[in-house]
Amino acid sequence: MLNVGHRGASGPAPEHTFSAYDLGIEQGADYIEQDLQQTADGTLVVLHDETLDRTARGPVENCKGLVRSKTLEQIKTCDVGSWFNDEYPDRARPEYVGLKIPTLREVFEEYGKDVNYYIETKRPALAERMEERLLELMSDFDLRRPAAERWQVLIQSFAPESLVKVHALDPSLPLIQLYFGAKNTSPWIQGTLDAARKYAVGIGPAKDSTDGPLVKAAHEHCLAVHPYTVNEKPEMESLIGLGVDGMFTNFPDRLEEVLGTRTLPWDTAAARAAEASRTCRGVSGADAGGGSGTTGDSSRERSDGGSSSTPSSDRVEILGTSRVGAKPRLGLGVKGVPRRCASSFVARLVLTGGRGGSIRVYVDGRRVAKKGRRAVQVRVACGDLEPGLHRLRAVGASRAGGRVGRTIRFFAR
Ligand code: G3P
Ligand code: CA
Repeated sequence: MLNVGHRGASGPAPEHTFSAYDLGIEQGADYIEQDLQQTADGTLVVLHDETLDRTARGPVENCKGLVRSKTLEQIKTCDVGSWFNDEYPDRARPEYVGLKIPTLREVFEEYGKDVNYYIETKRPALAERMEERLLELMSDFDLRRPAAERWQVLIQSFAPESLVKVHALDPSLPLIQLYFGAKNTSPWIQGTLDAARKYAVGIGPAKDSTDGPLVKAAHEHCLAVHPYTVNEKPEMESLIGLGVDGMFTNFPDRLEEVLGTRTLPWDTAAARAAEASRTCRGVSGADAGGGSGTTGDSSRERSDGGSSSTPSSDRVEILGTSRVGAKPRLGLGVKGVPRRCASSFVARLVLTGGRGGSIRVYVDGRRVAKKGRRAVQVRVACGDLEPGLHRLRAVGASRAGGRVGRTIRFFAR
């Protein structure tokens, strides 16, 4: 069951900001969603609406009107946090004031391969080369292969032409066909599935269009079903009962709570969904990618259920690499972080490549390693933490300027 943070965790934080994305990851989202708009000078930025009017505040000439009529420089003068504080005083936070509209490049720079992305092309017919620019950026950050192999990036659109174009550019990429709520009923969507399965691996219907016959028909076409936008626990439970494979929610923590022990780590959940899709279509792993589908059930299995404080791996894995083109490639190895922890664990971190550097380690945003070096050990006392999901983040920096980060979630109990 894929937990998709809709515009991030956009219930408690302003949509499509780093605050909403960070919170979504912290709350257990397997994916963070990006809605793409394109500026007048051809930069992909992340904003839901075509216009700036609802969520942007700032100079009127820059922050009102269509995104595609503004330059990136103009867009960057706008604040997309203050509206949230005004609209939701009970959830307001001072740090939301002044938050900027991120570019997709900035999102990739921030999270690299540490998260899964669920990216929507918005009004692509009015944005020249939107799909090409998206794929170029994915190439810059080495995300195309992990997208194809383990669904690290899912590309979604209401516009079939946009998805068909992406499929033509790169048939290996996993695509999701979206459908408009009441306008697209379950029977109507069912009539499109033969066409959709030719380029897509899944569908994103509105929750109110999602019923048993649609889920059954989609699965018969090897298409995963990810309804939107599901914010209340009873409707989450009901959709899970129908057999959906994931869902968009503004409150990823609620879905995590509903799933309980059925939840999986974000990367395992996506990889299993990709594998289920290939299995359904009879495609081998080597032929990974779009046009395959899913039966959807495998990602709903129990997570490890393992003993407390058992490391998920004993070997040092290279969990991330730097994204600095010409500079020496960096690797960040991490071992010893358990999935579940009752007492304590020792995490060992080592920076590889580059020409020297240092590592900083945080637990839930609090720095826990005082002195950065190329290799550090950190003891984490789980007994001192609140029971529940926590986040260990390691950031390595080389003297040459490269940077690599990795976030690992663990449960304290
Ligand atoms: O992309 C799924 C869902 O987000 C579609 O609705 O309007 O929030 O982009 P919207
Ligand atoms: Ca969307």
